[in-house]
Amino acid sequence: MSTAPHDLLKRTLELARAYLDTRDAGPVWPTATVESLRAALGGDLPDEGIDPVGVVAELSRAARPGLVSTTGPRYFGFVTGGALPAAMAADWLATAWDQNAGLYVMSPSASVVEEVAGSWLLDLLGLPADASVGFVTGCHMANCTALAAARHELLRRAGWNVEHDGLGGAPPIRILVGNEVHVSVLGALRMLGFGSGRVTRIDADAQGRMRPDALARVLPQEDGPAIVCAQAGNVNSGAFDPLEEIAALTRPRGAWLHVDGAFGLWASASRGLRHHVRGAALADSWATDAHKWLNVPYDSGLVFVAHAPAHRAAMSMGAAYLVRTPDEVREPMDWTPEASRRARGFAVYAALRSLGRKGVETMIDRCCAMARRFAERLGREPGIRVLNEVVLNQVLVRVEPAGRDADAATRDVIAAVQNERVCWLGGTRWHDMDAMRISVSNWSTSEADVDASVDSILRAARAQR
Ligand SMILES: Cc1ncc(COP(=O)(O)O)c(C=O)c1O
Repeated sequence: MSTAPHDLLKRTLELARAYLDTRDAGPVWPTATVESLRAALGGDLPDEGIDPVGVVAELSRAARPGLVSTTGPRYFGFVTGGALPAAMAADWLATAWDQNAGLYVMSPSASVVEEVAGSWLLDLLGLPADASVGFVTGCHMANCTALAAARHELLRRAGWNVEHDGLGGAPPIRILVGNEVHVSVLGALRMLGFGSGRVTRIDADAQGRMRPDALARVLPQEDGPAIVCAQAGNVNSGAFDPLEEIAALTRPRGAWLHVDGAFGLWASASRGLRHHVRGAALADSWATDAHKWLNVPYDSGLVFVAHAPAHRAAMSMGAAYLVRTPDEVREPMDWTPEASRRARGFAVYAALRSLGRKGVETMIDRCCAMARRFAERLGREPGIRVLNEVVLNQVLVRVEPAGRDADAATRDVIAAVQNERVCWLGGTRWHDMDAMRISVSNWSTSEADVDASVDSILRAARAQR
């Protein structure tokens, strides 16, 4: 325990630099086995501790073989952002400062950074300037927070205090979701006591977009409070629900419109893409991620609510010792499900400050251009089909060699590409077909990275013939 913090931080910096310097030359997915990692990291808890420098050196050595290059430029799995240098550095500072972003009195700077970054985000994403903002762990928790605000507001209008009286005996709320709803919205509904199996599903079109004509038919079938969950950015195809048309149906009925825009909401930051989210500002709440397309380190999600009092009422807690500051200050815990909380705002602030409005737009546009490059090169290959309209950063690819089962061939190609380790991408099912999912969400992915990855996919696909 004797090492001075300075030596420890210097050594930690060296280890982090060594990782970043060697990351892209190695395999994107590691070769370590679970047994080797357990052997390296496991064992009984020793009675005696060791020097912190020894701890980080040992941890780094033991964990390194099992790290996935998710921050690298050839990781296309799930929807995974990298870590912008400024955001990573600010996140380190946040750890060194170790502020509790619960109340203003615990960290005035954490509170004000959230206030400032929150207003930048509303501006960048084209949302109402008076919407409330919460800094949460990810889009799942953002969906949960937004839907808790919806539950509060709709039941308040019906004369019911759900925070006090719970859901037993409350007026029923109808929940309508698109047929391609993301599972995290269903998970959020489940946690809020709505039951994921009790939702009404609205037909989606071939790209996964909620069909407004179907919503127009189903929504008026019953009166009473209703929440409509739309989506900006389908997790497979990247497609957008037509938000303007959906809002034109929800608003006259007083239904709450929630938009799950985990990555697609960032289209608002691009002049060339923002037509996809036309009408988004007419919604009542929005959920998105900073750890996806803003390239802020994990974990970092964002929730916005057009009805700040409902947001606060759904989240806020009070106790005598939780001292509130009388001035007009932001109390961060009023807007999130947690009380004590990491000061995530610093990294979000740093990402926005380092990119500026233009830099965010360039990053979003470049990822989409890289996705189109994937689609163009792969689509030219006989026996390969791009399944979706590539409107954003997502590409769905199917391998269809003559005379072979295309599902099996697609799975084999995914496995071969993962095994070659030039890049990493995952699989999915799309319209009852196996497909390869390519998500370009990293700030540093270049044309050369796309080309090397396409070459890897083509090698695997040609081996199927
Ligand atoms: C549309 C959509 N909503 C919600 C989520 C959940 O986000 P998170 O895993 O950051 O909580 C995702 C994740 O991919 C998503 O694509």
